[in-house]
Amino acid sequence: MKCRICGKKPIIYMPHHRLALCKEDFISWFERYTERTIKEFKMFSKEDKILVTVSGGKDSLALWFVLRKLGYEADGFYLHLGIGEYSERSKEKVEKFAQRLKAKLIVEDLKKEMGGIPLLKDITSREACSVCGLVKRYNFNKVARDYGYTVVATGHNLDDEASSLLSNVINWNIKYLGRKYPVLKEEEGFVRKVKPFCKFTEKETALYALLNGIDFIEEECPFSEDASSIFYKEILNRIEEKFPGTKLRFYLEYLRKVYPRFKEEGERDLQPCKVCGQPSPSEICPVCRLREKAVNYLHGHEA
Ligand code: FES
Ligand code: ZN
Repeated sequence: MKCRICGKKPIIYMPHHRLALCKEDFISWFERYTERTIKEFKMFSKEDKILVTVSGGKDSLALWFVLRKLGYEADGFYLHLGIGEYSERSKEKVEKFAQRLKAKLIVEDLKKEMGGIPLLKDITSREACSVCGLVKRYNFNKVARDYGYTVVATGHNLDDEASSLLSNVINWNIKYLGRKYPVLKEEEGFVRKVKPFCKFTEKETALYALLNGIDFIEEECPFSEDASSIFYKEILNRIEEKFPGTKLRFYLEYLRKVYPRFKEEGERDLQPCKVCGQPSPSEICPVCRLREKAVNYLHGHEA
């Protein structure tokens, strides 16, 4: 096999694109493809102020890196989730990386505010990842609004998107399907949200990160072990092995043929939360209720 561009020895073969590339050509292909995805879905332009939510993992750091390389105005936001050593180590990686990029990084501490994910998980008896998703979405939007960003960009890749699509199809979670799109437009109280890596597999973003010497945290969040998303990813990878190209097709055909039919189902009836002012399905938003519960719990245990 040869690199399709220069004929040298390739470092990657991507069966879903029928494309083999050497190191240099993979890097430039990856960057062009990112740009193309941004344009295809009208995610943002050079005029936008972009907030990249970084976890310390390969996807979000690679996204931050590539957006700045492409000339976009992109700052980072790290939310310290209070998950022990894991959060400490990932914060270090993010801070070091921000220095390398000479970029602005905003850091907020969930532990100080409401006790961190382990506590929230215990007091709600919800799965850690579901509470975590809730507070992340809330904070991403809040910080973006508070600091005047027009777009929030996350590092979700194709494996993330296809696996969550699969699990929501299996459960016929129609409301969710109506919001599964790589761009969620700005609406009352919400900043636009985008996923520029939605067409890259995990392998591709990892390779791009490695080739650019990005020092990311390799360990997974300790709560992810029992997360169902990993199970769905494995299933998709097994299908992909047998029928290369399925993962990308599953996702793209969904966007093209199915999403338009569910779009209306995804519309929400929201009002500003009476406590924090962020858009909420009820008078007081779920995060403010959670915060109150956590603060009460913490006071009770101090006494
Ligand atoms: Fe949110 Fe693991 S990163 S629960
Ligand atoms: Zn609120």
